[in-house]
Amino acid sequence: MEIKLVPTLNNMGWMIAQELDTYTEAFIHYALNAQKPVLEVGAAYGVAAPRILQQGGKVIVNDLDGRHLDTLYAQTPPHLQPNLQLLAGSCIDEIEVEDHSLSAILCGRVFHFFDTETIALCLARFARWLEPNGKIFIVADSIFHGMNEGLLADFLQRKAEGHPNPARVSLTNNPRLAAQANKDDILQAMPEYFNFIDIETMAKLFNTAGFLVEHASYFPAKYYYEVSLWDGREGVGLIGVKV
Ligand SMILES: C[S@@+](CC[C@H](N)C(=O)[O-])C[C@H]1O[C@@H](n2cnc3c(N)ncnc32)[C@H](O)[C@@H]1O
Repeated sequence: MEIKLVPTLNNMGWMIAQELDTYTEAFIHYALNAQKPVLEVGAAYGVAAPRILQQGGKVIVNDLDGRHLDTLYAQTPPHLQPNLQLLAGSCIDEIEVEDHSLSAILCGRVFHFFDTETIALCLARFARWLEPNGKIFIVADSIFHGMNEGLLADFLQRKAEGHPNPARVSLTNNPRLAAQANKDDILQAMPEYFNFIDIETMAKLFNTAGFLVEHASYFPAKYYYEVSLWDGREGVGLIGVKV
């Protein structure tokens, strides 16, 4: 079987190894033409970063677990290592970047581990780090992710009732996961709680943080295996422009 995903060392899910989504591709393209540095947040071993480096660009790479970043550095050809800056720590409250010093930030498949309040906090930090007209690229697991299939009706009801975290659910007794032969291994490799992301909620958070939504869509998460798939809208992406 083709290896689509690489496990993280800190049980924070998997990094995509093969097929990229269009938002990550757009970030790479933007990064290669940017005037100021760009940052990949929650990169694991680096998704956009190695591709930017291979094409002659520079990139700052963050992850909660510095072991991922050390591996990225070791795997980077020596002549490209000066173009790679590592920034280990939590993007919520540990790392710091100079105000208005970045042209773009990619945060790929991290926000579905955070509650709404934490996403808002991160977006405010990202906005502060970006130059005016700088861009934020977000990719996450959407409310149409396979593991939310049996739970979408409950989500819609909680959302209608104004629940602050309507899409945040435990995966412990998840119906889709329960049917998997390797469910214990999958559960072990991920945080217990997931917050499946919808465009409407995220667009409001973008606006509050000072971003205009330039583009947003659900898309087929071709980088996942069957357990995560549903109707071709399992992934969600947004591009925001800092106003
Ligand atoms: C599912 S992986 C995604 C990796 C990669 N961005 C991708 O799209 O394949 C989530 C990554 O986010 C990192 N992460 C989780 N919480 C974080 C935080 N507060 N600050 C920085 N990185 C974080 C984890 O260490 C992990 O490597």
